[in-house]
Amino acid sequence: MREGKNCPWWKKSVVYQVYPRSFQDSNGDGIGDLNGIIQRLDYLQELGIDAIWLSPVCKSPQDDNGYDISDYQDIDPMFGTLQDMERLIEEANKHHIKIMIDLVLNHSSDEHPWFLEAKKGRENPYHDYYVWRDGTEETPPNDMRAAFGGSAWEWVPEIEQYYFHQFSVKQPDLNWENPKLRQEIYEMINWWMQKGVGGFRLDVIDQIAKEPDQKITQNGPRLHEFIQELSRETFQKGDLITVGEAWGATTEIAKLYSNPDGSEFSMVFQFEHIGLDQQEGKEKWDLAPLPFLKLKKILERWQKELFQCGWNSLFWNNHDLPRIVSRWGNDKEYRTESAKMLAVLLHGMQGTPYIYQGEEIGMTNVKYAMEDYRDIETLNMYQERLEQGYEESDIMTSIYAKSRDNARTPMQWNDSLNAGFTEGMPWMKVNPNYKEINAESQRTDPDSIFYCYKTLIQLRKKYEVFAEGAFELLMPEHNQFFAYTRESQGEKLYVICNFSEKEAVCSLEENWKNMQILYSNYPESVDEKIYRPYEARMYLRCQ
Ligand code: GLC
Ligand code: CA
Repeated sequence: MREGKNCPWWKKSVVYQVYPRSFQDSNGDGIGDLNGIIQRLDYLQELGIDAIWLSPVCKSPQDDNGYDISDYQDIDPMFGTLQDMERLIEEANKHHIKIMIDLVLNHSSDEHPWFLEAKKGRENPYHDYYVWRDGTEETPPNDMRAAFGGSAWEWVPEIEQYYFHQFSVKQPDLNWENPKLRQEIYEMINWWMQKGVGGFRLDVIDQIAKEPDQKITQNGPRLHEFIQELSRETFQKGDLITVGEAWGATTEIAKLYSNPDGSEFSMVFQFEHIGLDQQEGKEKWDLAPLPFLKLKKILERWQKELFQCGWNSLFWNNHDLPRIVSRWGNDKEYRTESAKMLAVLLHGMQGTPYIYQGEEIGMTNVKYAMEDYRDIETLNMYQERLEQGYEESDIMTSIYAKSRDNARTPMQWNDSLNAGFTEGMPWMKVNPNYKEINAESQRTDPDSIFYCYKTLIQLRKKYEVFAEGAFELLMPEHNQFFAYTRESQGEKLYVICNFSEKEAVCSLEENWKNMQILYSNYPESVDEKIYRPYEARMYLRCQ
């Protein structure tokens, strides 16, 4: 597969997400920072990734850990300086790694100068940069709720108006209807492009075209018009990787976001597969077992419907999701096997894989006491449900399973104090299992999860079929196997995974002996039809 219009470089790339405050502290204040990331570039190059998606490092009061930006063109002192950022971009480039910035464009911080001006008066030129409605102190414009709890409307007595916020009160929504605001955003993005960033991740981009009077949050009527203008004014001037976070994307909508004509983004980051273990129509905290056959169906549908007319991201984890090995694997007896199985299953598919920091060493969820949680979403939900009369133990069960803090515990580098993350007091407790689970021990073990990821990244670069092959699901009704093929130009890849902790017998009638085994997470077996707990294999047949 050659590079070119139909095969841009990011189709063969793997992205690694860094959550800066939890990655590596370099100055002992207990918070990860940009210089810490620079120190770890050798590690990331060894893993083989192509780009880092950097969660927000811009100036921010940190109400939502940086997803509340008060200056889009400066770095929060907690993470370093603009010079550190420039050095990170430069050093990363030397390691053949591009830096993708997290653009939070749906809302700003309420401490952003635009908002400080906006709330001064209705005549202020910045007033219209945000979404305001009249009302009285007692009656908000409607009953819309914010994602982190409470009303989506906040009363500002000085000007007797409400502003709209889909997330916390400190994250007022920006008004994309205002062309001046859009222009300022484009200028800011072009400025980052000139600094040499390699791409962008667009935070909750499907929510920018809100219509609160119609109670529309996602997929508003002008959404794609706005995105196309954004893309034209910025991204299309460079050879970038861009990814839009879209919780509300269907495959049809995803084809717009990731249209191969390049009119919007490179790819979409959608969540249909990831929300399956919750009760239908309820919140993520209302747990349900994973419907395995449905998981297969959904992933199959995305593979098929985007084939040659869109591009997807492949992920199990990010900073908002629990650790996959604890969620759909087994983080006890079969931690290594199941972590590798999940990696193999995902990395064989079409799309651009994303690895979230610590996933490559099999980091797990935590069970902390309430005072050790930090996430605004978790803290607000805890209060809200207590007030609604939920049992505390039930609330904690939900938190253990789904809290975003599961992903945000410090990266486990080695078995020294605080897992080598900081010499100070970490901003959030380190997972107590760091003595066993850490990057150093993974790197000295050739059979580790780390080397599984490394191999998978190399395979994607070596064989065209990973980027190009057409997908077919095998054994769709089997309740242990998740198996599929990918086929293109004489190469056929088989990915066969036992997604369970019981042995399973594979009934596929292929001549496995004549195929090349690309990867297996177990030593060779006597009977190749038998798959041990969480066993995963990749075979390649060439014509
Ligand atoms: C996205 C981010 C999440 C953040 C939210 C509001 O979903 O991934 O961390 O809280 O947007 O910006
Ligand atoms: Ca620090």
